[in-house]
Amino acid sequence: MAVSLRDVRMIYRSGTRQVLALDDVSVDFPPGTFSAVMGPSGSGKSTLLHCAAGLDRPTGGVVSIAGTPLGDLDETALTRLRRDRVGFVFQAFNLVSSLSAAQNVALPLRLAGRRPAAGEVTAALAAVGLADRARHRPSELSGGEQQRVAIARALITRPAVVFADEPTGALDTRTSRQVLDLLRALVDEHGQTIVMVTHDPVAAAMADRVLLLADGRLAGELTGADAGAIAARMTTLEAAC
Ligand SMILES: Nc1ncnc2c1ncn2[C@@H]1O[C@H](COP(=O)(O)OP(=O)(O)OP(=O)(O)O)[C@@H](O)[C@H]1O
Ligand SMILES: [Mg+2]
Repeated sequence: MAVSLRDVRMIYRSGTRQVLALDDVSVDFPPGTFSAVMGPSGSGKSTLLHCAAGLDRPTGGVVSIAGTPLGDLDETALTRLRRDRVGFVFQAFNLVSSLSAAQNVALPLRLAGRRPAAGEVTAALAAVGLADRARHRPSELSGGEQQRVAIARALITRPAVVFADEPTGALDTRTSRQVLDLLRALVDEHGQTIVMVTHDPVAAAMADRVLLLADGRLAGELTGADAGAIAARMTTLEAAC
């Protein structure tokens, strides 16, 4: 399995309050598949992604990436595994504001001690339609452009697994389509594994399957559904919550 979760539980504690954000979730993400994760706001989608990517340690259960249980790794080994195998597109883009678009995209390579090959960063920016924005800083880019820089940055190391938290949330229809086509091509042409959180049934319809979350639990799975069927199921799910 590219990624597997077994009985993953996440409890957030703030003061005396506890939030059960993930309630014993078990799910597999096979290599070379594109999964969408949908569910009402607060249902645990971002938490699921952060735990699956090794960015947060769950309160209970086991997350494995490429067969390695993350709980067995110390921080250094976990950081290395994430750097080598995982790309993450955050819901808030998390760009470094003092660096240009090109420098942001090159960052994962530099952190891995690699100098980007000639044209590598330009090609990654071109793939998200931003070849002419390489020298702009995040504050000089629109929200959608920043999101696309974040996507280029997640893809530059060609990670086996890409987690994307609402990657098209800030994009217009055309740019959104470009990004989704790019993600689909990573799966179909390069065998990468993608897990994408989205609120958009059109985006979810590009995936091989749609996982539905409600109150921190898996509430169903759709395969081969079109945007209309996904939207209908989401309406039912939200009404039940
Ligand atoms: N760091 C935190 N501390 C305390 N509670 C948290 C924390 N992060 C998330 N939560 C809570 O956990 C639950 C799940 O949050 P999560 O961010 O995973 O939801 P989501 O499905 O991604 O929602 P959205 O669609 O709004 O992004 C929510 O009730 C949220 O308030
Ligand atoms: Mg979220």
